[in-house]
Amino acid sequence: MKILGISAHYHDSAAALVADGVPVCAAQEERLSRRKGDATFPVRAIEWCLDQADIDPADLDAVVFYERSMLKFDRILTCALRGFPRSWRSFPAAIKNSLGEKVWARGIISSHLGVQKGKILFTDHHASHAAAAFLTAPTRRAAIMTADGVGEWATLTVGHGERRPNGGTDLTLLREVRFPHSLGLLYSAFTAYLGFTVNEDEYKVMGLAAYGRPNMADRVRRLIHPTPDGAFAIVPDYFEYHTTGERSYSDKFVELFGPERSPYDPIDLASAEGQRFADCAASIQRVLEDTLVDLARQLRRETGLTDLCFGGGVALNGVANARVLAESGFERVFVPPAPGDAGCALGAALYADRVYFGNPDRDVPDHPFWGPTVSGDELARAAREDGLPVDEVDDPTLVERVADDLAAGRVVGWMEGACEFGPRALGHRSLLAAPHAHAMRDRLNRDIKCREEFRPFAPVVPAEAADRFFDLPSGGARLARFMSGVFPVRPEWRPRLAAVTHVDGSARVQVLEREMAPRLHALLEAYGHRTGIPVLLNTSFNVAGEPIVAAALEGYSTFRRSGIDTLVAGRAVVTKRVAPASERPEEGATCASRNAAGSSAA
Ligand SMILES: [Fe+2]
Repeated sequence: MKILGISAHYHDSAAALVADGVPVCAAQEERLSRRKGDATFPVRAIEWCLDQADIDPADLDAVVFYERSMLKFDRILTCALRGFPRSWRSFPAAIKNSLGEKVWARGIISSHLGVQKGKILFTDHHASHAAAAFLTAPTRRAAIMTADGVGEWATLTVGHGERRPNGGTDLTLLREVRFPHSLGLLYSAFTAYLGFTVNEDEYKVMGLAAYGRPNMADRVRRLIHPTPDGAFAIVPDYFEYHTTGERSYSDKFVELFGPERSPYDPIDLASAEGQRFADCAASIQRVLEDTLVDLARQLRRETGLTDLCFGGGVALNGVANARVLAESGFERVFVPPAPGDAGCALGAALYADRVYFGNPDRDVPDHPFWGPTVSGDELARAAREDGLPVDEVDDPTLVERVADDLAAGRVVGWMEGACEFGPRALGHRSLLAAPHAHAMRDRLNRDIKCREEFRPFAPVVPAEAADRFFDLPSGGARLARFMSGVFPVRPEWRPRLAAVTHVDGSARVQVLEREMAPRLHALLEAYGHRTGIPVLLNTSFNVAGEPIVAAALEGYSTFRRSGIDTLVAGRAVVTKRVAPASERPEEGATCASRNAAGSSAA
């Protein structure tokens, strides 16, 4: 049975194909359209999935949309009416969006793909999140928690799943918290207040939190309080996301926390104002963590289960995930590589396969590499046409060569096989560098990534060496498989892992098992032989404002436009000619000039 899952029209569209119960491929539309966070109907991703499997739309047994669009429309309409007359200005935009896209999902899918309407199914948004978390995890029985901004009405669900010995699958969601009561939207309101982009920059709030003290947590708790059933409720007066849609927080919110930050002002952590924003970030972060820990602890007591599968956009918060693991009583916490809405494409397809059609349980390969593959030949061709030196070598030679480059302080663009499904580079589309010095972090921020200085980089370490450098609790390595947890760097190693240690001594470490990415694992070992520290800085292969690269030519273009020194794909290794000092860009000019070029093109 071949099932196509689709998520679209909100944020980060995606498509995924499941055949005979196992994923064949999955991709976010942005990786193919090259528009970051592309939310349009994922025509390219669908086409690519069908090409990969060498099938026509007519061969599909079902197409599953990741949420019930009529229910979502119902919420938008209801909230607009409740908020009237304050909502009247935003209502036409909301309704146009819904009428134009969401409500008519069946018609859009049918007209794009030419499949019969009877083959088009819908899952609940949070059932898609739950399936993406539970049905991809190597566990047979687990509690399930999902948390995001909002789906149709639900914003958080708890339940449990079981893959039964007879091959059947049980996936039960016991309770839900409904809009406007939402942890995701609460966090997003602070994201907006702190001058960042909602639905995109929530992780910046988490990064900024490490610079602050949670001394406003009591104030945050005035916005959200526990309810007798063990859940929570927000106090609507502090927000506007449920009424106007123009701003997510209200004047009352600003009275409580002070003036908001302008997105155009840099955050100066040395100033009182900058510190207030960091304290504010620390405070919302603390309240989010406390709330999730309470919910998970209660779910642990209620289900008696030892594993938790956690999905939804809120599960991207690695600091909160680590506290859930440490404090809820669950022994293992599984967060999928794509816990957000893109992952719902795969979740919806798996849900339809196991629950709707009742197909037998199958193990799902435990890795994130479901996207387009990279071609070393394509890279070699492009570089040669450009007159750059290319070496085509076997794997052992390539690993030694790249380890030499890294040990010499060069930044390496590392492309291998299929690209990651989900927001994080986990070793197939990564920028790698030496993790030892602050100077490397600053160089990457300044010359390549063009981003705020408070943003930390993440390390990758072989599983065998992880405990030596990082203070991982029991179950920590699992959470770190897809970079879903933030853990302390051991104090004695912090000075030598300065580029990947956050200001509070933590790191969002990826713990790499050899079988998940053997060539990167070998590279880490080779680097360890040279430096005594088998740890590399691993950040996503993209520059600010662009999606992670997918094809070789995108990697090559990024390499040419930025301060990356060496580029690898397949057997090909490309190096830049070192320009004479007089021709090199001035320090700091790389990002500035690129940003200027970007804004004039936009
Ligand atoms: Fe969601």
